[in-house]
Amino acid sequence: MALSSKPLVAGNWKMHGMTASLDEVSAIAEAIERGEAGAASCAICPPATLIAAAVERAGAGLTIGGQDCAAQDSGAHTGDIAAAMLRDAGARLVIVGHSERRAAHAETNALVRAKAEAAHRAGLTAIVCVGETRAQRDAGDAMAVIGEQLSGSVPPTADSAALVVAYEPIWAIGSGLVPAAGDIADMHGFIRQCMQAHLGSGGMAVRILYGGSVRAANAESLLGIANVDGALVGGASLTAGEFLAIASVYRR
Ligand code: PGA
Repeated sequence: MALSSKPLVAGNWKMHGMTASLDEVSAIAEAIERGEAGAASCAICPPATLIAAAVERAGAGLTIGGQDCAAQDSGAHTGDIAAAMLRDAGARLVIVGHSERRAAHAETNALVRAKAEAAHRAGLTAIVCVGETRAQRDAGDAMAVIGEQLSGSVPPTADSAALVVAYEPIWAIGSGLVPAAGDIADMHGFIRQCMQAHLGSGGMAVRILYGGSVRAANAESLLGIANVDGALVGGASLTAGEFLAIASVYRR
């Protein structure tokens, strides 16, 4: 089942969040039910240990996702979690290829693509992350880097409704820095072109999220940029009020 094609505001809790954090999930879900969260689809991706409990708190309006999945469907892979297991726990989407995993776990484009394909086999929407380093941007290589990551990481057969791309410049993550609006517009326009070249007309329907230091204070300007179809939010997704302030930029 794919998410709807509305804009998507997804929270990535990373390795934050103990059981008490589920109260934030409840608060977000209740606000969505009251119609206070704007017109976007909302998702929270907590640590895997909290997924099943988060699903119980989430209600119909809030999607729960994973932060990673295995490329294989099952088998002898100690410590890994299959996409089908995430789905069994109630998740409906999964982030793959986050720059923290590409860096800390040496994940290649080919592995990220295999994970996205595994997510699709299990019926999950895949959020495929791409992003350049500061040095790559300063050298004028940002688009070349992103183009290569996209062609290597995005399954060429993907159903566009089950595919989301998150553009997250590595230097913007957790730093309080964001690219200039014109640079985001250029990059998202380029990603749109790449998706059309990769997937044909379906490339128009792929949602392209911006991620990296999205906060309530800058959400309005970031989410108004052309071809920005939502946000992948790290630190600001840990508290319901901040997350909801970002999501409600998409007014009903
Ligand atoms: P940040 O993280 O919003 O804390 O910068 C974004 C991310 O890594 O997805």
